[in-house]
Formats: sequence, structure tokens, C-alpha cells
Amino acid sequence: MFKDVTDFVATPVAERHGAARDPSRPPPGAATDWTVPQRWADFGAEDHAVWDLLFARQQTALDGRAVAAFGEGLEMLRLSRPGIPEFGELNARLQARTGWTVVAVPGLVPDDIFFEHLRHRRFPAGNFIRRRDQLDYLEEPDVFHDVFGHVPLLALPEMADFMQLLGELGLAAMQAGALHRLGRLYWYTVEFGLAEEAGRRAIYGAGIVSSFGESRYALDDPRPRRTAFDLETVLRTAYRSDAFQQGYFTIPHVAALIDQVSRAELPELYAALADLPDLDPATGEPIGAEDGGR
Ligand SMILES: [Fe+2]
Repeated sequence: MFKDVTDFVATPVAERHGAARDPSRPPPGAATDWTVPQRWADFGAEDHAVWDLLFARQQTALDGRAVAAFGEGLEMLRLSRPGIPEFGELNARLQARTGWTVVAVPGLVPDDIFFEHLRHRRFPAGNFIRRRDQLDYLEEPDVFHDVFGHVPLLALPEMADFMQLLGELGLAAMQAGALHRLGRLYWYTVEFGLAEEAGRRAIYGAGIVSSFGESRYALDDPRPRRTAFDLETVLRTAYRSDAFQQGYFTIPHVAALIDQVSRAELPELYAALADLPDLDPATGEPIGAEDGGR
């Protein structure tokens, strides 16, 4: 049992976004910042049909489980219209609202490129969609995860600011040799965060809102641990990227998250945590070397 836990790695930030296979140069056809034209007209009827199928499934699965701002963002950005969104049209609305734009990338991009985009209020979205026989399987983030999962909350001014802050903190963490810490913050908030809202828990993490199975599991299943967000704890807590989460952190609201993160002296905190053991997300207990294999 503990073997799984000790197998957790110091995962680079948001595996679903970072860690391109060859990070030394952009793939053919991509610009130096790894962006590509969306070429929306090249998506075929089947691509749009897969988007519509995923969208309809998530509407059913979420059914009041996401934070209210998620549904408001979908509505405001008109993401509920059929088919893969055309980014020019989407960006006209999003940019007017919070200054963010969505840019197309071929797939995973290097961490520094990813953070540079965030720092400039650009969200990189995979310019492809999964196949119909892979609805629940994602090797890399596709346009459905990236746009349906991430973009609605970029219309929320507080989340727009938080994502930009993560871009700045990501670059700083890379310089400090603490990318895995920042990766955990990103993971347990932007991807798998829960929030208190109207006296109940609600989903705001993109990895959950875009997942048919986890959108139910994260709130209803008795197995995962759900605890209040605490920055130091999050920076110490390992995670898995290949299974539903064993632990979630709940924030009171996004403004409180920004407050806690922006007040922290992160370089000092990284240094202070360096000699402490990682925490097991399922129990909150230290993952000690003496526990390995048990
Ligand atoms: Fe994501």
C-alpha cells in the first residue's frame, strides 16, 4: 500500500500541461512560444461531435456540483454552443472580461513556456480533441480539458489574477529549484481544487470539472480525504497524476486562496520545507523512508 505512495514523484508542474517530450525546441510549424494557429476550419464533423458528447456528459455529471462561477463563465463565454469553440470569437469575450486569451499549442509545452504564457494572461490549449473511443482517457490535455475545464473560471477576475500569479511563481520556483512545490500548489488548486460555497463543497478544479468519473468521486465518494486548504501542507503533499486523487483541499473562496499565496514568502518557505518529509494525500501523514514497502 505504501509502495504506491513512496512511488509518488516530485512531479513537474501540471504534468498535463508541462514536460514536452522534447523541450529543447518547438515542434515543426509552431512559433518560438510553441503556439500554432488554431485552424478551426480543419476540425471535422466528428471532432465537433466528440466535443458535444463530452459537453453533454459533463453537464449531466456536474449538475450543480461546480462552483457557480463555472456555470456563469460557460454562459458568459457562450461555451455551451455546439462544437469546438473558435478561439478568435472566444477570446473577444474573454479578453474584454479579464484580459486573458486562449492560445493553441500542439500539445504539452515546456514548463518555462507554460508559465510565461500564464504570466502574460495567455492560456495554452491543446489543439486537438480526443477520439470517441477515448472519452475518459487523456494522455495529454486536449481542447476539451483545456477549454471546458480551465477557461470558464478565467472569466472570474479573482481566478484570472491567481492564474497570472501562478505564472510568475512558477518561473520563480524553477529558479529556486522548487518546481515540484509549485506544481503541487497548481495541482491541488487549479486542477483538483474544491471550494466552500453556499454551505456545501463545490468543484472548481479543471481536472475534476472535465472528468466524468471524478466530478462525482471528488464530492461524493467516502474514500478521498478532504481537508481545508493550507499552503504549507499543500506544498508538502504528494499527488498522483494517473488515478483519481486520494486527497483534496478545500478553499473558502478564490480571494482567500490568493491572499494566502500572495502573502507567503515562498522562497523562504521552500527552503524551510526542504528537509521535511512529503505528506501522503490519503492520510496527511509523513511518507517516511521506514514506511516504504509496507
Ligand atoms: Fe489542466
